[in-house]
Amino acid sequence: RRHLLDLESLSGDEIRTLLDVADQLKQATGGCRNKISLLAGKTCANLFFENSTRTRNSFSLAAKRLGADTVEFSSAGSSTAKGETFVDTAKTIQAMGVDWVVTRHCTPGTPHLLARELECCVLNAGDGPHDHPTQGLLDILTIRQHRGRIEGLTVALVGDIAHSRTARANIWGLSKLGAHVIVCGPPTLVSERWGELGFEVAHNLDEILPRCDVLNLLRIQFERQSARPFPSVHEYANLYAMNVERMAKAKSDILIMAPGPINRGVEITPEVADGPHSVILEQVTNGIAVRMAALYLTANAPIS
Ligand code: CP
Repeated sequence: RRHLLDLESLSGDEIRTLLDVADQLKQATGGCRNKISLLAGKTCANLFFENSTRTRNSFSLAAKRLGADTVEFSSAGSSTAKGETFVDTAKTIQAMGVDWVVTRHCTPGTPHLLARELECCVLNAGDGPHDHPTQGLLDILTIRQHRGRIEGLTVALVGDIAHSRTARANIWGLSKLGAHVIVCGPPTLVSERWGELGFEVAHNLDEILPRCDVLNLLRIQFERQSARPFPSVHEYANLYAMNVERMAKAKSDILIMAPGPINRGVEITPEVADGPHSVILEQVTNGIAVRMAALYLTANAPIS
């Protein structure tokens, strides 16, 4: 494939290849720290129309670790303020001679639009609530590194499923690799439609907790909700925050994950976020690994 637009359209084998290459490149770069020259002479442009800390910087580092150059574009301060469209902006950056456009935008489907409009590779760094394929891959890679497999594990995605592109990427990616996926959260934030699609839907975290191998704790995306969200932060924390009391009900080897940014005291307490079961910062490092794999594999794919 020339693009990485979502995990829903990838096969289990394609996902496994991305994970295998991510592991290999992580090792080849000394844990994502050293440079190798696999992609020397190529250029990766980051086009971010929404804020980011992890995705943007790790795409940039991934390109640099493989010897590529980077172009950093933020809509803030750009000529979009003068009326230049999203597609014209992307075509302008492409005309500077880039091999990949990495795009983050609040509108679902924008990477798919660019894939039709551009000649270069397009990598989705998050399109509204739709998908965030490299986030799903880094989450799954982190689980696989700890457990050696995905098949047969019970993984709960907890929180704001309705507005979460990370949830969608995980749901498709994990299920294609044979995990049992539970989507858990308040009824206002978890659609029963997931049940119709064959996934387990739960609204009570305490009931499902004892049988979970992994919890991935999602942030409540208040920026994508109405001015009076339900539940409130306080109500949510009471019902769903992973805290020391809830950890006592969990499996002794449970993995605690969060895509970040985390809101301490809302979906996770500091004791759990910084505790021995947390792999949150390993997820960040693995973000470089999977983004190196995405750059490498798309660069070497035949034109589709
Ligand atoms: N998880 C994630 O996408 O983080 P950023 O918004 O900081 O990139």
